[in-house]
Amino acid sequence: MQRIVSGMRSTGRLHLGHYLGVIQNWVKLQNEYDCYFFVADWHALTTKYDNTENLRQDVIDVVIDWLASGIDPEKSTIYVQSLVPEIAELHIYLSMVTPQNWVERDPTLKDMAKILRTKEAANSQISYGLMGYPVLMSADIMMLNSHLIPVGVDQIAHIEITRDIVRRFNNIYKTDFFNEPQPILNECSLICGLDGNKMSKSYNNDIKISDTEEVTAKKIMTAITDRSRLRRDDLGHPDQCEVAFKYWQIFGDAEQVNTVRCECEKGSRGCADCKRQLGALVNERLHDIRERRRYYEEHLDEVREIIRKGSEKTRAEAKKVLKEVRNIIGMY
Ligand code: TRP
Ligand code: SF4
Repeated sequence: MQRIVSGMRSTGRLHLGHYLGVIQNWVKLQNEYDCYFFVADWHALTTKYDNTENLRQDVIDVVIDWLASGIDPEKSTIYVQSLVPEIAELHIYLSMVTPQNWVERDPTLKDMAKILRTKEAANSQISYGLMGYPVLMSADIMMLNSHLIPVGVDQIAHIEITRDIVRRFNNIYKTDFFNEPQPILNECSLICGLDGNKMSKSYNNDIKISDTEEVTAKKIMTAITDRSRLRRDDLGHPDQCEVAFKYWQIFGDAEQVNTVRCECEKGSRGCADCKRQLGALVNERLHDIRERRRYYEEHLDEVREIIRKGSEKTRAEAKKVLKEVRNIIGMY
């Protein structure tokens, strides 16, 4: 069975963008592949090294959201990056063979640097660790010598660097030990935030998997609609309804979407009522996930055990790879 590895930074509670864009895809893949999913807490440190108060809780929250969403620890291996210290050693070896300009031209890193520069002085420098972001990611992938990496488009450039590093390593040490990994693009729909921008915790426009039904319903009432519509019986334009109708298309079935479209266009559907119904639909869709989330919140020992076991299993795999790598390089 082909091996898949993918990770998410420990950013705390996840939102519907994560669920629809990434996790749902993982849930499908776990039936066909040998899957390893990990919380990238070192990657979180690359920008939040001076704000670690919530780090532990953030890791737990990410894993609970995964479990709630249907990642099954019987099928997939769940681990925490920093609990597999072999990754750090592999990162050292990879950092030796990676030319500096490869990391300097990484577009994602350039974006991060831009964001950092807008912050207060103490944290506005790119650290040595942040420069190594794509190299550390390569270590994550190569540590399990995996073939396929399911990620969003924003991570493709990183996988490209990983492929370059694999080729360079194999060349320098005259080996074919490492596989060239391939990205698998998530085919899921991209959900925008309530204000029409990219859904993100930092834009404060997200709906969390862990939000209560009340909070979800309230948030959805703030979703942008057809801005040209002022009164309830104005004729509406669903295709210009920037957020609410898009959500209908994601969460509703064909018949529901059609009804909304017809009633909106006829002017027989008010936006407030429309969003009330939409809120109920979203809550219905998330009901089982939230139920499972509550279960895991009340059984934290189970969650910690899943992390411990998964990390131990990953470590055993990582040790085998590392032994080979040390041997290939010619370490003592
Ligand atoms: N950089 C990824 C993100 O921000 C997380 C990540 C770290 C990752 N290591 C990885 C993803 C290895 C895939 C494979 O989402
Ligand atoms: Fe959007 Fe619904 Fe209002 Fe039409 S009725 S503009 S679909 S919120």
